[in-house]
Amino acid sequence: MTSHRILVARRPHILEAAEPEQGDSLVPIGVLVSGRGSNLESILDAVDGKYITKGRVNVVISNKPSVGALEIARKHDVPTVILDDKGLPKMDSDYDGKTIATLEAHGVTPKDGLVALAGYFRILSPQFVDHYHNRIMNVHPALLPAFPGLDAQKRALEHGVKVSGATVHFVAKEVDAGPVILQAHVPIRDDDTVETLSERILRQEHRLYPEAIRLFTDDQLRIEGRRVVLKT
Ligand code: GRF
Repeated sequence: MTSHRILVARRPHILEAAEPEQGDSLVPIGVLVSGRGSNLESILDAVDGKYITKGRVNVVISNKPSVGALEIARKHDVPTVILDDKGLPKMDSDYDGKTIATLEAHGVTPKDGLVALAGYFRILSPQFVDHYHNRIMNVHPALLPAFPGLDAQKRALEHGVKVSGATVHFVAKEVDAGPVILQAHVPIRDDDTVETLSERILRQEHRLYPEAIRLFTDDQLRIEGRRVVLKT
């Protein structure tokens, strides 16, 4: 454990968040991936290690064949589906319709499911975001709203900021703009390269993402406008 703190707002006022089902049922989670899968692995380790006790990963869907994330899912005995998006635009509501159908076929419904984007390099259509309203999370390698989009670590270095970090947030229609759930800061060193900075940020991602999913599946989160607060 490092000295980095997890930041989360408190003091709930208005009820607007998704409400995971109570009782013995597990929140069905679908993870969307495109590549390496280290965040997926941190989530699966948290489920297997009983850090997340009220959620289960029902399916991992990749838009790319033969990526590391698929191997990781198989190693954890989680069903995988490849929906190859070769030749398709980065945002495509027909493609997203297939993703929704696949998620729902694995029990990840807008009623009680959670969709976790873990290195998913597609832009979700407004239809998808509406369908899973307040039930989609993403992890980003910067302190949003700074450095949204691609190459966040490189752009933070080039900009000369002294602190960057990791953010887990709910997904809104605008890219990397939804309500922030958790953030952790990572100081930037004078001798950092994109690789060394990315590596330290990634360690924070692997800590924050399972924590955010645990809070969601334990029904601890409430969304008030742009703020995500802990239920009291
Ligand atoms: C992570 O840095 C994440 O923040 C970004 O894409 C990267 C995915 O890495 N969205 P991995 O596939 O989880 O290892």
